[in-house]
Amino acid sequence: MNIIRFEDLVAQGHAEGKRVFIRADLNVPLDDAGNITEDTRVRASVPAIELALKAGAAVMVTSHLGRPTEGEFKPEDSLAPVAKRLGELLGREVKLVSNWVDGVDVVPGQVVLLENCRLNKGEKKNNEELSKKLAALCDIFVHDAFGTAHRAEATTYGIAQFAKVASAGPLLAAEIDAINKALEAPKRPLIAIVAGSKVSTKLTILESLSKNVDGLIVGGGIANTFMLAAGLKIGKSLAEADLVGAAKAVIESMKARGAEVPIPEDVVVAKAFAADAPATVKAATDVADDDMILDIGPKTAARLAAQLKAAGTIVWNGPVGVFEFAAFENGTKVIAQAIAESSAFSIAGGGDTLAAIAKYGIEKDVGYISTGGGAFLEVLEGKTLPAFEILSRRAAG
Ligand code: 3PG
Repeated sequence: MNIIRFEDLVAQGHAEGKRVFIRADLNVPLDDAGNITEDTRVRASVPAIELALKAGAAVMVTSHLGRPTEGEFKPEDSLAPVAKRLGELLGREVKLVSNWVDGVDVVPGQVVLLENCRLNKGEKKNNEELSKKLAALCDIFVHDAFGTAHRAEATTYGIAQFAKVASAGPLLAAEIDAINKALEAPKRPLIAIVAGSKVSTKLTILESLSKNVDGLIVGGGIANTFMLAAGLKIGKSLAEADLVGAAKAVIESMKARGAEVPIPEDVVVAKAFAADAPATVKAATDVADDDMILDIGPKTAARLAAQLKAAGTIVWNGPVGVFEFAAFENGTKVIAQAIAESSAFSIAGGGDTLAAIAKYGIEKDVGYISTGGGAFLEVLEGKTLPAFEILSRRAAG
């Protein structure tokens, strides 16, 4: 994908003295007192801002926070906690500016944070008049919000249409590079792990990946539906009986390409969904009517680990068992460690996956950890994200 990279503009001296508008994704979780409970996205936004400041630009940064009603300011929708945290990370004051659509006072070497962009009327619907006003605020637009790259809104799409220059910031560019490396030109074998509670929420991902990957490892409730499709009994485990046909179709389409959906040969079951429920390892053919499958068994985990270690590329979305409970975490732990030990390029994304990566301390051993939730899933579905489309269109001239 050909895009204009902000890093290149800076290296060529094009950002000096210019007004730079950075769209970041600073949509972080806050507690009831308004404290940020997880600041990864704020930290991830720092390199683009520092790059622009070092280049001598006048820097405006904005983001959405939550899903406020446009035109109705409420204190809980304010980016004030983000301005404070960003100031700490940058080691300088970050002024928060309200009502900024018609003009922003900012000088070269200064950074200001523009209040929640979803408070502006027309933001969500990508209103053209608003987009043109936003574009007029800057010389260079920098899209650095991968987490919002699947939305076509005024600060993520419209401004990119009308700004003099529309570029990708370092975070967005890194996400694009990692996605291309994993899905466009992967080193083979390419193995994907798609796990989670329901096939229905990930059916399009399974269908899309089944056309591309060499191995499709399913886990969690999704694996239970695939076990049903393979003719196995799953007791009272979570599954979607109405999607057995869809699961069979995925298995068949993989088989037709000489690829495989490995079905668990053993599982860890319990009689109840509880942290203290006694766990029993059983062959996949021995699941009783009152059993609930809460993890893959050790033989399955070892087989999958061997496949992951021999992979060229790994895409990981979702834990394969109830890893929050010690008795049912082994499958996810073994998979995580295999990914960490594999020489394959790996890309991982999704809230639960990130929690598993943190739990097993393998952050440094994963090739790329995506900051996108919904955006990452849409990439796996094979969709072209609006941000990628408009930035490559603008790069084409
Ligand atoms: C996210 O948290 O996934 C992104 O910030 C996008 O937020 P949205 O779903 O409200 O557009």
